[in-house]
Amino acid sequence: MTPVQVSLEVNGERVDAHVPPRLNLADFLREHLQLTGTHVGCEHGVCGACTVRVDGDIVRSCLMLAVQAQNASVETIEGLSDSGEIADLQAAFRDRNALQFGFCTPGMLMAAQDLLKLEAEPDRDRIREHLAGNYCRCTGYQAIVDAVEATAWARAGRP
Ligand code: FES
Repeated sequence: MTPVQVSLEVNGERVDAHVPPRLNLADFLREHLQLTGTHVGCEHGVCGACTVRVDGDIVRSCLMLAVQAQNASVETIEGLSDSGEIADLQAAFRDRNALQFGFCTPGMLMAAQDLLKLEAEPDRDRIREHLAGNYCRCTGYQAIVDAVEATAWARAGRP
């Protein structure tokens, strides 16, 4: 199939590429840009491992074609990590054992940060609800909710 030109911004840098029209955004990020922090699990929109930000909203990058990101601003876990935006959240995940082998972790962090940007002090039910689209097979979720809640409290200046 004839490659299609796509131009977008990824983690603040302009990217121009020619891609197969059916290439999904997750594979584009991983295979063309070597941004392998975006993980691919189910490949049909269920597990949340491939979560990235597109124009400020989190999306499943396995359900979006790379060409659909034309002129968009895409942010991956590498971008959020390198900028320091989620340094406190990452530290809370580490300190509270909210990850084990880490396959779900990038997507989980993207979704958690999305919630913390929307709501200053979500309660545990809201945290669970917002993360319901991100599967974790190791932690049982309790430690993840602990880490997100602790980060929310710290950002709100609560003891
Ligand atoms: S790989 Fe995209 S939701 Fe599972």
